[in-house]
Amino acid sequence: METSTDTRPYSAGLEGVIAGETAIAKVDGQNGRLMYRGYPIVELVRHGTYAQVAELLWTGEWREDAALHCGTLTGPVLAALRSLPDGTNAMDALRSAVSAWGASERLTYPPTLEQARALTAMAPSALAAFARLQQGLDPVEPDAELGLAAGFLYQLTGEAPDAPAARALDAYFIVAAEHGFNASTFTARVITSTQSDLASAVCGAIGALKGPLHGGAPTEVVSQLHKIGSPERAEQWIREALDRGERLMGFGHRVYRAYDPRAAALREVAEGMGNTAEWLRLAVAVEDIALRMLAERHPDRVLKTNVEYYTAAVLQGVGLPPSLFPATFAMARHAGWTAHAIEQASANRIIRPDVRYIGEAERSLATLATPA
Ligand code: COA
Repeated sequence: METSTDTRPYSAGLEGVIAGETAIAKVDGQNGRLMYRGYPIVELVRHGTYAQVAELLWTGEWREDAALHCGTLTGPVLAALRSLPDGTNAMDALRSAVSAWGASERLTYPPTLEQARALTAMAPSALAAFARLQQGLDPVEPDAELGLAAGFLYQLTGEAPDAPAARALDAYFIVAAEHGFNASTFTARVITSTQSDLASAVCGAIGALKGPLHGGAPTEVVSQLHKIGSPERAEQWIREALDRGERLMGFGHRVYRAYDPRAAALREVAEGMGNTAEWLRLAVAVEDIALRMLAERHPDRVLKTNVEYYTAAVLQGVGLPPSLFPATFAMARHAGWTAHAIEQASANRIIRPDVRYIGEAERSLATLATPA
């Protein structure tokens, strides 16, 4: 093997590397703060709507009259969804829908605000249609009066959603809309930097988010709480899981060294939802015990609740099946991905880092024996 003479710094997973500049969001892991365009996430959740927040991410402006309604699906998108086999993963379905949408819209570079709005509005209709088709039901036409979260619930069930559920899902959409240079957003920016189109960038981002290290945790939080079953069983269950070297789902974070501000905002939302009471009582009791035991086991490492823990409570509370949790996250993240694509294109330079070569030293085919 060649001994590398390249002494430039290398960080596995690009951890700690500044790989770009953004004015969209600030993730302050040390102090447990998250701000979109300078506004703290907790204020946005309390006083804003997803439509207002999406406009803020895209344009930097706060518009009181911002509105987003679910888009009508075009023929190619519906045909793509209908062609998927039974049991298709919802993330694969959403990615396929975005791909078909991009093809039928004949998108070109650079990404625009109109494209970002249209794609973000299409995603909930596509996911709802997919969920119904998989159950042998016909898709429901979008209701132009409803916002994105309420419109998604309506298209999923065919019934007017109750206001607290729609509000809770809207709050979740706000919390999940954007989070700096995570793997999927970085993927979207890399694709945009080649001057490819917005649908391609979002397809790539959905692919990155599909991996369990990025977008899969809330589903596992639900199964963890089901296994624990009751607050009385929590301590023993957690001790045994930690003794086996397992991770507690919904705890710990690469960036946050404090309570995840998104978890705090979502816990407030979950507490305002009547129908989650029983489930929330279990989640809160388990959280307290888990935090205490994680602190005992890792006195030198701050391990706090992360966003996925209360995401599970909210999504379960609004009646979504766990199989739709990751794709619901992806839907909400459309605002952030598309905002980053627009920002990347506004000062573009192709993202093309270098790699350290650690393979064979130079050699020649001539040294190999000639085949008979
Ligand atoms: N449960 C139990 N122990 C945990 C833990 C968890 N959820 N998260 C981290 N730890 C422990 C690790 O075992 C490790 O201990 P060790 O040093 O004795 O080996 C230590 O804390 C540091 O963990 P590390 O893997 O280096 O942290 P990371 O920054 O790379 O990982 C996560 C971050 C999110 C991947 C990790 O905390 C995790 O797997 N959490 C559970 C999954 C989850 O909730 N994901 C959603 C993230 S938003």
